[in-house]
Amino acid sequence: MERWRGRTALVTGASSGIGYAVAKRFVEHGMNVFGCSRNIQNIDELSKTVRCGPGSLNAIKCDVSNEDEVLAMFAKIRKEQGRLDVCVNSAGLSHGEPLLSGTTEKWREILNTNVIGLCICTREAVKLMRESGVDNGHIILLNSRAGHMAQPRSTIHFYGASKYAVTAVTEGFRRELRELKSGIRITGVSPGLVETEFVHRAMGQESGEALYRSLEKCLTADDIADSVIYALGAPDHVQVHDILIRPTDQAY
Ligand SMILES: NC(=O)c1ccc[n+]([C@@H]2O[C@H](COP(=O)([O-])OP(=O)(O)OC[C@H]3O[C@@H](n4cnc5c(N)ncnc54)[C@H](OP(=O)(O)O)[C@@H]3O)[C@@H](O)[C@H]2O)c1
Repeated sequence: MERWRGRTALVTGASSGIGYAVAKRFVEHGMNVFGCSRNIQNIDELSKTVRCGPGSLNAIKCDVSNEDEVLAMFAKIRKEQGRLDVCVNSAGLSHGEPLLSGTTEKWREILNTNVIGLCICTREAVKLMRESGVDNGHIILLNSRAGHMAQPRSTIHFYGASKYAVTAVTEGFRRELRELKSGIRITGVSPGLVETEFVHRAMGQESGEALYRSLEKCLTADDIADSVIYALGAPDHVQVHDILIRPTDQAY
């Protein structure tokens, strides 16, 4: 990770769970990090606790499903740092509804955040990297094991569709970057069950807790941060395409 010291990263969804763990880890590795989400109190608090570390953390309030807010966020990074080296797309959500009784508005929110927001951020990140002469940048897309196989729980069928789209765009972005002969790499990270706020937000506190307790030990956000660090640490000629990672006793 030494080569990333002093370089600039954007982490979306940095107020909680995986994004929070990744943002913290990046600062500890000496990176200058912009962390965004719709509520930035947690990021502001984290930025105070890591202030003595080698890197820095700046919170930006941004809803990634709102293109104007995303463009304003990139304008701020461009103005303050003039470059971007790493972009981690962790902002994401689900609503615990089966397809046959699902709500259109909630489907739109899932797609606008998990797919369109992720694509806008990745497009703008590559644009800023190329504009600032960063040819060895890295994009990380938080996918899911639900983006690679049908799920047994009806409550995540639509969420799974959004993550299958992430699988498709991961390869799409990779091919377009190769066509440009760019050295920018792209990696999907596809976890099974990770103990964060995610399931509670999607299914409610009680059902979320029951799901987490159904396994001996879920993955932690730090386990996923380890995967991100692994992908970033690979030498330039190695592109880690996707990391599928599950709790050892997760059956599906
Ligand atoms: N936890 C799991 O079991 C699991 C498994 C596989 C994949 N994943 C994926 O991992 C990623 C991170 O999930 P997590 O487990 O860390 O969940 P989490 O603890 O709920 O964190 C989600 C983060 O995304 C942010 N966010 C949600 N909608 C947003 C929007 N429209 N604009 C900006 N930020 C937004 C949230 O902050 P605000 O609400 O403040 O905006 C929060 O910081 C997601 O893409 C998720 O699909 C999670």
